Amino acid sequence: MRPKIPSALKRLLNKEKPNDFGNLCQAVRDHTLLDTERLLSLWTLINDINQREVIGDIVECGAYKGGSSAVLRAGMGAHRKLWIYDSFQGMPETSQRDCSEAKNWVGECAASVGDVLKILQATGASDADFIIREGWFQNSFKQALPEKVALLHCDADWYQSVILTLETFYPLMPKGACVIIDDFGYWEGCRTAYYDFCQKWGERPLLERQGKFQAYWIKGKEHNRNG
Ligand SMILES: C[S@@+](CC[C@H](N)C(=O)[O-])C[C@H]1O[C@@H](n2cnc3c(N)ncnc32)[C@H](O)[C@@H]1O
Repeated sequence: MRPKIPSALKRLLNKEKPNDFGNLCQAVRDHTLLDTERLLSLWTLINDINQREVIGDIVECGAYKGGSSAVLRAGMGAHRKLWIYDSFQGMPETSQRDCSEAKNWVGECAASVGDVLKILQATGASDADFIIREGWFQNSFKQALPEKVALLHCDADWYQSVILTLETFYPLMPKGACVIIDDFGYWEGCRTAYYDFCQKWGERPLLERQGKFQAYWIKGKEHNRNG
């Protein structure tokens, strides 16, 4: 399923019901680096896994101030938990696999657990809905993980962060689960991590692109012949 952004966006933004996507977008605006198109894509894809009844929790690696976390939480349904991973210390050092421009971002995007709590609560989350794992992925991924993951939003940009995220959570994802990689079309290291992951794991995903930056795929999906 590929979200049809322009018409869907127009329709959603025109709704006046509280808690609809347009209101949600407005509420999270100061808490996210994602534009409305990418937020709508998250919203559409999480609704898709709900409709297809894919079993598992939701994982976001790279939360910053929690705007995209709040959209995922609002869409995920009461039976799921949202697992949020971030250092809250800004972007880590880059590696040789990242481009030179990436070095300028080291230490940028620092936020706090408080920022994330604030927007989650403002958009209707209860404490039971989410788990925040603060720290570098290298450490926080060693703590207990979700049993199954229905949707993974990987928004961590650098080669090492992205490949570690994919290698940690992909084995927990059932067939039909959705992986979203933000900034696939922006950061070379992020894209290289995806290709290296695929090569190492023998994966050949049907990669879909959303706008200039985002990419996603449905695990195990082999073609789009049926829509
Ligand atoms: C682009 S921001 C996330 C944007 C966010 N999803 C939003 O809605 O605006 C990337 C985040 O990834 C986190 N990050 C990147 N690599 C990490 C790592 N190895 N361990 C922990 N956090 C990491 C950074 O702290 C930063 O908050």
